[in-house]
Amino acid sequence: MKTEYWKIDPYAPLEPQLADAASVLAHGGLVAFPTETVYGLGADATDAAAASRIYAAKGRPSDNPLIVHIAHPADAGRYAVTGELYERLSSAFMPGPLTVVMPRRGCIPLSVTGGLDSVGIRCPENRIARTLICLAGVPVAAPSANLSGRPSPTSARHVRADLDGKIDGILDGGDCTVGLESTVVKLCGDRVTVLRPGAVTPEMLREVCPHVTLDAGVTEKLPEGVAPQAPGMKYRHYAPRARVVLIRDAGHGDFDRRAVLFLEQRLREEPAVGILCFDEYGPYLHGKNVMTFGKKQDDAEHARRLFDCLRRFDETDAPEIYAVAGAPDGLGLALYNRMLKAAGYTVLDL
Ligand code: TXA
Ligand code: MG
Repeated sequence: MKTEYWKIDPYAPLEPQLADAASVLAHGGLVAFPTETVYGLGADATDAAAASRIYAAKGRPSDNPLIVHIAHPADAGRYAVTGELYERLSSAFMPGPLTVVMPRRGCIPLSVTGGLDSVGIRCPENRIARTLICLAGVPVAAPSANLSGRPSPTSARHVRADLDGKIDGILDGGDCTVGLESTVVKLCGDRVTVLRPGAVTPEMLREVCPHVTLDAGVTEKLPEGVAPQAPGMKYRHYAPRARVVLIRDAGHGDFDRRAVLFLEQRLREEPAVGILCFDEYGPYLHGKNVMTFGKKQDDAEHARRLFDCLRRFDETDAPEIYAVAGAPDGLGLALYNRMLKAAGYTVLDL
């Protein structure tokens, strides 16, 4: 199949530039589009056949539910059973990088929700995404627009690398501003459970609702046989080809010095080793596969660059990759969660 490629000119009126893509969506086709988090692979969420094409294009397991994207927070009630807690969360964080899992209404087919009776609803902030959904006139089911198991795409180039020839079109709206997928929360009574951490942090959620807990799968490998509440979290994800080891601060003090000494030693033994570290380490680590992804305290920059760095390691000969983790709080929790998964839970405490 030939994949159309539409480059968006941010200074020209948007609607005419999106008309073709919206029409493809309205007629059951697949279009990749930018959001503030990562690029999504969209299809009409009320069309079971269109949704099944998403699973085929990505090679995605059919039990992994898709998120339904809407143009206005108030549209959620058409597709899910909302309530007072949704109202509170949506007025605080929508449009934005938050997905809320609630009981599903019948117009969303089971094939979209991976057979579950719940549905995740998200209203993205990105102007291209929202205008596209409006013009298509349908809710848009969209997982991240990568091949299953690959790091999520944060640019149209990433989408092309994975899905060119497999989908109807790609809208290029530049790089994603957040760079990590949305926070996924599940509502139960007055309780909020974070199934996947993102840019809407637990601290932010607690300002709006008192009962916020983290699903155990966010920071730990679940025991054999225990399924995480978000089916997608059980798959090895975000993973480059080479083995990844996460370097973590064990709290003994002087972490940065220990980390740099360890990494210098590894580079002496194996000059091609891959390293993902803070800018501050750069001057001490000389190797062809050393990448820095922002200043130590700049979680937002790490978030924007993480997936691109993981993909770029695949273009190197690095036999193994060491990735240095920052503190797992605020946005750092989402980073830590993605890096832990990329490492398949292989951690070195220093
Ligand atoms: O930022 C995002 O959320 C991006 C953009 C495109 O919006 N989308 C995205 O979709 O990351 P995906 O399919 O790659 O990840 C969706 C996650 C999966 O872990 C899935 O299992 C979980 O959300 N999820 C979706 N619906 C759910 C449901 N009804 N119950 C539990 N988990 C659900
Ligand atoms: Mg994904």
